[in-house]
Formats: sequence, C-alpha cells, structure tokens
Amino acid sequence: MRLFFAAWPPPDTAAKLALWARQFEGRPTPAENIHLTLAFLGEANPDAATAAARRAEGRKHHLPLEVARYWKHNQILWAGPRETPGELQALVASLHAELRAAAFVLEDRPFSAHVTLLRKAKRLRTLPNLPALDWPIDDFVLVRSSVSSSGASYEALSRFPLG
Ligand code: 2AM
Repeated sequence: MRLFFAAWPPPDTAAKLALWARQFEGRPTPAENIHLTLAFLGEANPDAATAAARRAEGRKHHLPLEVARYWKHNQILWAGPRETPGELQALVASLHAELRAAAFVLEDRPFSAHVTLLRKAKRLRTLPNLPALDWPIDDFVLVRSSVSSSGASYEALSRFPLG
C-alpha cells in the first residue's frame, strides 16, 4: 500500500483553494484531494504506520495559508504558510522521529509545508493573493493513495487527534 500522513482541510477551505486555482492553466487538484502532507512513506505496512503515529505528539493549531508559490523543477503551484508554525514543525518532528524509530525510511530533506493546488502548471510572473482561509489542524490522517490514469484517489485509513 502506498501511504502517507497528511492534514486535511475543512471542505469549505478546500473549496476556496480549488476555486482560486481554477484561474490558472494546469492540472488542478480536485477539492476533495487537497491536503498538507506531513510524512510520505511510499509502499508501507499500515498497521506499523498506525502504531508509530499513535505515539507521535502534537497540539491543535491553525495553519496560516498566506503565500502561493510556483516550483519550476516540478511545475507545481502550491500554497503554504509564510513561516511554518512551531506546532506544525513540532508535530512533524515527533511523527518523523516515531516513524524512524519504527524503521520507516523517510526522505532526508527538511519538511516543507506545501499544499499542491496545480500540477503541470504554467509559470506565472506574479501570483494573485490567496483568499482568506481558515484551516484548523485538529488531527491528522494516515492515507492510502492509489494512482491511475485519471489521477490520484485517497482513502483515509485512520485518524489521529491532536492534544
Ligand atoms: P506533492 O503534492 O508535492 O507531490 C501524496 O503523493 C502526497 O505525498 C503528495 O502531497 C506529495 O507531495 C507527497 N509526497 C512527498 N514525497 C513524495 C514522493 N517521494 N512521492 C510521491 N509523493 C510524495
């Protein structure tokens, strides 16, 4: 199973982000698929991943989505916080530490909080401001990803509440 951990936005926040992304050329992420990845596992055992995530510690917080950016190397247009909130950084550090302790192999590069809104996006000189958004992070989920020619589909396998 191809797995990752993510935070999912409330439906109205996802709908606003999807609507904002519609003004650009590219392959938009459907509203129901919009998420913030916390840890990408790839092919992995869901039971072991669940056990590790239960040991991770984190506090509820809000994700400020203030900036839209374009990554040239993979043609992704994304939204993210100007600065990663301390609570999010701490949650990710704890989750990664628990996963590594359980022998999961994670990428070495530092966590970059980004919400992919468009793939194969055309480069834009300036990006219009994002709408005002509220994204409370009260929990996170273990997600199974299936990729087909029609795109990715995600299934939440388990949910982990934050303190
Ligand atoms: P992306 O949006 O930048 O592609 C499911 O694939 C989620 O895991 C996506 O949010 C994706 O980020 C993220 N991810 C992180 N590392 C990945 C990897 N090596 N392969 C595929 N997806 C990865």
